[in-house]
Amino acid sequence: MVTCKYVRIPVVLFLISVWSCQGPVKHYVSEKREVSTKAMVVSAHPLASAAGMEILRRGGNAIDAAIAVHFALAVVYPRAGNLGGGGFLIYRTAQGDKYALDFRETAPQKAHRNMYLDSAGNVIPGLSREGGLAVGVPGSVAGMYEAHKRFGKMKWSALLKPAYKLAKHGFAITPQEAERLNSYREDFIRFNGKDIPFVKDSAWKGGDILRQPQLAHTLKILMTKGPQPFYHGPIAEHIAQTVQRHGGIIEPTDLQHYRALWRQPIECVYRDSLRIISMPPPSSGGICLCQMLGMTEVTEFDPEDRQKILTIHFLIEVMRRSFADRARYLGDMDFVDVPIDKLLNKRYLVRKISDFDPRRATPSDSIQHGKFALPESFETTHFSIVDDDGNAVAVTTTLNSNYGSKVFVKAYGFFLNNEMDDFSAKPGVPNQFGLVGSEANSIQPGKRMLSSMTPTIVERNDSLFMVVGTPGGSTIITSVYQVILNTVDFRMPFDSAVWTGRFHHQWKPDIVMHEPHTFTPDQISSLQRLGHRFLERKYIGLVDAIIVLRNGTLIGVADIRGEDDAEGW
Ligand code: GLY
Repeated sequence: MVTCKYVRIPVVLFLISVWSCQGPVKHYVSEKREVSTKAMVVSAHPLASAAGMEILRRGGNAIDAAIAVHFALAVVYPRAGNLGGGGFLIYRTAQGDKYALDFRETAPQKAHRNMYLDSAGNVIPGLSREGGLAVGVPGSVAGMYEAHKRFGKMKWSALLKPAYKLAKHGFAITPQEAERLNSYREDFIRFNGKDIPFVKDSAWKGGDILRQPQLAHTLKILMTKGPQPFYHGPIAEHIAQTVQRHGGIIEPTDLQHYRALWRQPIECVYRDSLRIISMPPPSSGGICLCQMLGMTEVTEFDPEDRQKILTIHFLIEVMRRSFADRARYLGDMDFVDVPIDKLLNKRYLVRKISDFDPRRATPSDSIQHGKFALPESFETTHFSIVDDDGNAVAVTTTLNSNYGSKVFVKAYGFFLNNEMDDFSAKPGVPNQFGLVGSEANSIQPGKRMLSSMTPTIVERNDSLFMVVGTPGGSTIITSVYQVILNTVDFRMPFDSAVWTGRFHHQWKPDIVMHEPHTFTPDQISSLQRLGHRFLERKYIGLVDAIIVLRNGTLIGVADIRGEDDAEGW
C-alpha cells in the first residue's frame, strides 16, 4: 500500500504540486534550471530526467541515458512519450563526430495517395487524425535499439528497467497530466472502452497513482528479448489487429519491414563561429532552421534590437520565406529529390530575403484565414543530454497529437500514433498544424511523412555549445530558431532565452501566432499597420535545452511552460 502526503513546493518561477510518497512511488519536483560541471539531462518529466541521470551515474553514456529517458517518458508522459510512435536523434560524440538517426514512422504498404479523400476528391475530416487509418508504422523501439547497437555502453535491459519499474509500481501524476487525462477521457472511451489504465470512474487529480501493468509486461518482454517481438512477433500481430479493428490497414509485414535509418545530419555555419547540426528529411527541421539562420545573417543585431518593430517584422518575414520552401520542396528523400544544396545555398538565401520590405508585410498568397482552429500543440516531446565525457544527444519523439490516434493496444499497454496526418492528404489542404504540402509530401507505401521535429546540437568554434529541441508541430522550428537568436544575437541569459515569449509564422495561414505576453499592444498595432495579422496561442513549444559555457559548465534549462525538468550531476 502506498501512502502519500500532499505538499506544495515553489520551484524557480513555477509552483508544482507534488506528492511525497512512501513505498516504490517516488517524490519529485520539477527543477527549471540546473548548473553542473559533469553531466545534464533535461526532459519533459522529472521522473524521466531522473531515469536518465540514474543511468549516467551508473556509468552509462549519453545514448544509454537517452534510451532510459525515452522509455521512461513512454510511461510517465503518455501524451507523447511512446512505444507506438517515432522520432529523430542527433548525436555528437565528445570527439566531434556527428550522427542523425531517423526512426520516423512509415506509411503502411496498403497506403495510397488518395486514402483520405472521398469520391469527390475532398479530404474526409478526421480520417488521418483519429482511429486506425491515422496510424503510421511505429519506429521508436527500432530506433532506440539501433542507437544502442551502435553506441550503447550499458546492457539494453538495464536501460529499460527504470521505465519498467515506473509502469509496474506506478507513479504520482502531475496536476497537468491529471487535467489532460480528464480532458481526453471521452476520446479514450470512444476508441477503447473503459478498461484502459487512463480511464477511471472519478476524475484524475494531481498526485493520483497511475499504474500500467500491461505496459510493464511489454517493457519486460523488450528488456529480455529486444525489439524482435515488437516487429516480428506477438506485439506486431497485436498492433496490426488493433489497427485493423479500428479501420486501419497496417499488416504484420509492415512491422517486419520497418527499419530505423542513419542519415547525414544537416549542417550549416551561423555567424562564422557556430555550426548547426540538425535533422535532415524526412524532417524539415534542419533545412528550415538553417534557411532561417542563413537569411538572418544578412543583418546584424544588438541586444536592444530584439523588441524593435523592424526586427520582429524581419524575423516574421524570414520564417514565412522558409516555410514557403518547406511546403514546395520537402518530403522523404528516399522517395523524392530534395534539393538540399540549393535550399541551403547562401546566395539563394540572401536572394530570398532580398525582397524584404521594411514598410510592409509580404502577403503569403490568398489565405483562408480563420477557417480552421489550430490546437495547442505539445504532442511531441524533446530531451537533451550531455554525459560526463562530453557526448551530447538531442532526441525529439512523437505520437503526433496528444495520445496519438487515441487507439490503445490494450494487451501491451500503449497508444498508437496518428502520424499519417503529417503527410499532405491533398495538395494545398492544411493538416492539423495548418501546414500545407505538395507532391513531395504525398502519401506512398513505405514513405516517411514530413516532420518539423528539430533536435539540434550547436558547436561554437568546433566545441559543444548547445543541445536544444522542443515539441510543438510546425512551431518547433521557429522555437529552436528563437532560442538560438535570443542566446547568440540578443545575448540573453540562457534561461530567459528559453522562457521568454515566442512567436511563429509558417507562410500559410498568413498569421503571426504568438504567446500572450510576447508583444505589447503597441507592438501589435505597429505590426498590424505593416500588414501582419495575429493569433494568440496559450503556449508555443516546450524547449528543453543545455548550454555549455566557455569554462565547461553545463546549464540545463527546462521550459517553464510544462512539467519539464533539468537534472544536473
Ligand atoms: N508530428 C509532428 C512533426 O513530426 O512535426
